[in-house]
Amino acid sequence: MATGTEEYARPAQPPDTSSLAGLRDAARECKACHLYKRATQTVFGEGPKDAAIMLVGEQPGDYEDQEGKPFVGPAGKIMDQALEEAGIDRKEVYVTNAVKHFKWEPRGKRRIHQKPNSREIAACRPWLEAELRLVKPKLLVCLGATAAQTVFGPSFRVTRERGKVLSSKLAPRTLATVHPSSLLRQPDEESRQREYKRFVVDLRAARRAASKE
Ligand code: URA
Repeated sequence: MATGTEEYARPAQPPDTSSLAGLRDAARECKACHLYKRATQTVFGEGPKDAAIMLVGEQPGDYEDQEGKPFVGPAGKIMDQALEEAGIDRKEVYVTNAVKHFKWEPRGKRRIHQKPNSREIAACRPWLEAELRLVKPKLLVCLGATAAQTVFGPSFRVTRERGKVLSSKLAPRTLATVHPSSLLRQPDEESRQREYKRFVVDLRAARRAASKE
């Protein structure tokens, strides 16, 4: 008997529209996988339709789930700082996630982030494809393994390919780098500084790639 809590996933079906607002509205109702049940809301991408750069992360976190906007929590703050240092204006970038609902498990009063699985990622992928179809960025930047594997496939390794401009099925120019939350997880200040600098170097490479014709 169905209890309403079963896990399921099937590909989302975005409407055929040329409007980002239309896509966002439709995504609000998305029930393509079970993640909508625990999430507060769909966190759709945000940014100008003519953005030269699209950044794609993994999934909204706790803050994003509550605010309904991507990358507004601690990872977003460090990303914003790095973008600024790399000469990229966040307001000119389109920011989104591979999965648009927060996946979490309760631990006491806390909501603990859970990695989305391949079926949840596949169910959400049509939304990312639709965003790419409308925005047509010059460069797609994948933040972390989930985003990079969504775009390049499961054998892709960010550690091996980071900072390189590659072509992918989803965008002619794509660059992968680490997820900004990995900077927050560094064991000490020295490694945090070192990894932050490497992240800025990758974002500078992104800026250069996005400004090429
Ligand atoms: N991590 C992500 O991957 N995306 C967000 O929006 C926030 C944190």
